[in-house]
Amino acid sequence: MERRSGCGVHQICFLFLLLFSLYPVCCRASWMWLGITSVGVPEKLGCANLPLTHKQKDLCKRKPHLLPSIKDGARIGIAECQTQFEHERWNCSTTKELSVFGYELTSGTKETAFIHAVMAAGLVQAVTRSCSAGNMTECGCDTSLQGTGSPSEGWHWGGCSDHIQYGTWFSRKFIDNAVKNMSSARGGDALLTMNEHNSEAGRQAVAKTMATDCRCHGVSGSCAVKTCWRTMASFERVGNFLKERYEGSVQVLDRSKRKVRRKEKDQRRVPIGKEELIFLNKSPNYCLEDRRWGVAGTRGRRCNRTSAGPDGCNLLCCGRGYNTHVVRHVERCECKFVWCCYVRCQKCESMNDMHTCK
Ligand SMILES: *[C@@H]1O[C@H](CO)[C@@H](O)[C@H](O)[C@H]1NC(C)=O
Ligand SMILES: *[C@@H]1O[C@H](CO)[C@@H](O)[C@H](O)[C@H]1NC(C)=O
Ligand SMILES: *[C@@H]1O[C@H](CO)[C@@H](O)[C@H](O)[C@H]1NC(C)=O
Ligand SMILES: *[C@@H]1O[C@H](CO)[C@@H](O)[C@H](O)[C@H]1NC(C)=O
Repeated sequence: MERRSGCGVHQICFLFLLLFSLYPVCCRASWMWLGITSVGVPEKLGCANLPLTHKQKDLCKRKPHLLPSIKDGARIGIAECQTQFEHERWNCSTTKELSVFGYELTSGTKETAFIHAVMAAGLVQAVTRSCSAGNMTECGCDTSLQGTGSPSEGWHWGGCSDHIQYGTWFSRKFIDNAVKNMSSARGGDALLTMNEHNSEAGRQAVAKTMATDCRCHGVSGSCAVKTCWRTMASFERVGNFLKERYEGSVQVLDRSKRKVRRKEKDQRRVPIGKEELIFLNKSPNYCLEDRRWGVAGTRGRRCNRTSAGPDGCNLLCCGRGYNTHVVRHVERCECKFVWCCYVRCQKCESMNDMHTCK
């Protein structure tokens, strides 16, 4: 069966990959590309032809059954990034290129920090889900809790507790060794350290947001016996957690091979927590388009006239002002059930203002 997709013909795909592997260091290919490909494409291309580093290809060849989870992890990571930044000047947009995030992937800003954290977390989440679904021989549910609990309080551990250790191990193995070549080419050991720290912060976020779920058993929901299990939070929760870390991210000194230190002079001695996001370079304001740095600018972005938040026209449009368009909105309304058996509706029209940045 032939599946039509963006990269259906092998030769074309190969050329495409070759072309991008010659791209400048800024826009090197990344495994994250798997998150924007069509279903089935990575499997069809095979580990050797994917935009992966040598080490990642080796790992992929040894564990080809993990390819769907890697793709899934990349997909949920990208989607969560775009949801979290939907209303901000930098909106986590991706390109069709193999670098996915373009310059932002290596710019060393707090946006870079968020990308690495959320992608590493996505990989933990996707692999762990696959473990819990019983899809893998090398991992499964967390059995260490089984048979314990608190009978006196009427509950015990049961069901399938998510066992994030394997997913965490895999996310480290797959990602942390991968960035080495990319940044050493740029002479940036500091960037490598930054990326690894933030990837780990992403994995920590999955661990920190884990929760306990319980189900009651007993006559008519009396809850005489409760079964509980540890479960990963929704990935949205993980995204919220990381977004907060992004807001409070710490600028560190740009120096290689030495311990990471805060940039702020009077805070150098304050240690940096594992869960904190760190960055090297101040972000641009993302207001105006700048092709050199892959900044799209906010012209044409939809804004909210009454909001005081980042989606408000004032902040989002960087004070340039906005255009107002009237959009006609048609919907089904005043639906009535007609005996028997259908629903009859009216068409209602409304006019709404839409604002976009100048
Ligand atoms: C981000 O904003 C640009 C316009 O600046 C828009 O073209 C793009 O679709 C947006 N991306 C997402 C993921 O919302
Ligand atoms: C488990 O494997 C089945 C069949 O291969 C697949 O349909 C399902 O999506 C997998 N689940 C996870 C969580 O990977
Ligand atoms: C870095 O790249 C070289 C070839 O360019 C390769 O031989 C080496 O294995 C790579 N190292 C890592 C850590 O991926
Ligand atoms: C605009 O912002 C206001 C205030 O934050 C909010 O109540 C409203 O729902 C927003 N409108 C849209 C269209 O998002």
